[in-house]
Amino acid sequence: MIMSKLFVKIFIAGIVCFSCNYSNSRVDRKATPINIIPTPTELNAAKGTFKLTPASVIVAEDSIKYIAEFLQEKLKGTGYNIRIVNENKDFKNVIYFKPKNPFDEKNGLSYQLNVSLKKIVISADEPSGYFYAVQTLLQLFPPEILSKDSHTRKEWSVPCVDIKDAAKYNWRSFMLDSGRQFQTVDFIKRYLDILAMLKINVFHWHLTEGQGWRIEIKKYPKLTEIGSKVADGEEQQGYYTYEDIREIVEYAKKRFITVVPEIDIPGHSDAALIAYPELTCQKQAPKATMGVSPVLFCAGNEKTYEFLQNVLDTVCELFPGEYIHLGGDEAPKAIWDQCPVCQNKIKQLHLKNSDDLQRYFSKRLADYLGKKGKKVIFWGDVVYDDGETLPDNVIVYWWNSRGHGDLAYKNAIKRGHSVICGTNAYCYLNYPVVPWSKYDSTRTFDFKTVYEKNPSDILVPNDLVMGMGCCLWTDWYVKMDMIDQRVFPRIYALAEQMWHVGERLTLDEFYMQVKSTYDRLKILGIDYGPAFANEVPDGYKWD
Ligand code: ACM
Ligand code: ZN
Repeated sequence: MIMSKLFVKIFIAGIVCFSCNYSNSRVDRKATPINIIPTPTELNAAKGTFKLTPASVIVAEDSIKYIAEFLQEKLKGTGYNIRIVNENKDFKNVIYFKPKNPFDEKNGLSYQLNVSLKKIVISADEPSGYFYAVQTLLQLFPPEILSKDSHTRKEWSVPCVDIKDAAKYNWRSFMLDSGRQFQTVDFIKRYLDILAMLKINVFHWHLTEGQGWRIEIKKYPKLTEIGSKVADGEEQQGYYTYEDIREIVEYAKKRFITVVPEIDIPGHSDAALIAYPELTCQKQAPKATMGVSPVLFCAGNEKTYEFLQNVLDTVCELFPGEYIHLGGDEAPKAIWDQCPVCQNKIKQLHLKNSDDLQRYFSKRLADYLGKKGKKVIFWGDVVYDDGETLPDNVIVYWWNSRGHGDLAYKNAIKRGHSVICGTNAYCYLNYPVVPWSKYDSTRTFDFKTVYEKNPSDILVPNDLVMGMGCCLWTDWYVKMDMIDQRVFPRIYALAEQMWHVGERLTLDEFYMQVKSTYDRLKILGIDYGPAFANEVPDGYKWD
């Protein structure tokens, strides 16, 4: 998958030529209008432009017509309804999805995009490559193409360029916490479009929390009747029906994004346990907690497993993807230590202690899902200690570098588990650039820090490293209209780390490119925030 050498250097043709030959004289990349983020592996610019006209044609075989239709829809931003045909017949002005059937011979690239004066040719090894080429192409057009209502522009041109591009990691995720705050289906679809633009391919959906259970489970109606309304705020009410979820999964699929649901257990479960208090150790409803709750599902009680397995049956029906995240973070064991049922289970199974009981609990559910062909992700907490071994279908998400350094990462690799790296320093986009609400100065970071100091980015190359994730937690009431300003522009740095192969641009060079996308973000209605503390205006509102 990975190109052997970095070529993200911009070259420009030395002579104006009809066929757009690409020469090797380097130009100052700061001066180039070509700003694609994440930056491609190799980009050679040439003189001249391709001009889209109402008579332009998209050529795509039927098997990838749906991707051509995605482009066709976006090109409506020009005011033109560009035709799609399935055969290349010497058209004068064409966007050609060059066929690659069957998709078996790999050349290690995601896609190649060649723009010349009369022709745009896209080739790819996989359908996803055509889609990523389309995302790149849309960034080559003037930003107004993204607008729903400005068709006033006279000319829609794309600079001649040859781009070869590949992804660094197969796993590139963004997590949204819909547990603490609820977001609408439209908001989530809007974010799926944003992820597609950034070539992020996993939407990790944190669906359950102390403050809200958001996924309908018809067998246990109280989960949503009660569990989706346990917090006080207006935007903390709500849940996703089966129809909502199917719509989101389908919308994501068209954008080559897998939706990975997270059911966070045994901790962060107050909302479920308020609905079904008989599944706690004390048989008492807890309080809906914003942070870490002392109350867990009782892992000694067989009814807990029956309940969770039934819940997971529905989760598997709704989410056809290969992965399910079962949380496992921040589960304090004081209550299990005192619970006779939990302690009895520990004794019966010859486990070491309550932490080992969590591994047994995790293993049992991972085995259950393994039989359904699923891989199961846990937050790194489950590998901090030795003890009960976890099955092979377990993947570890390394998150807590602030609290435990690289312990989860190292232990996961030692035990042969694949790892996703998305550490709280610095992949948690809810941390603002300057202190806000309960986020003090130790929980802030700026664009330079995320771009230059991300521990996930200094990983030793290892086949077990699946990729990188970033998270947007919604604690302390991060409502829908506050999310963009936390996510942008810093997510650009993360998307770059997830996608771009090889040497990086300097911070200044990259930030220059980032700023040049702000016109696009404005047209898309993305309310980007400041990148650096010194850019935060007096009185700036993070909420
Ligand atoms: C986490 O941030 N508690 C995974
Ligand atoms: Zn118990």
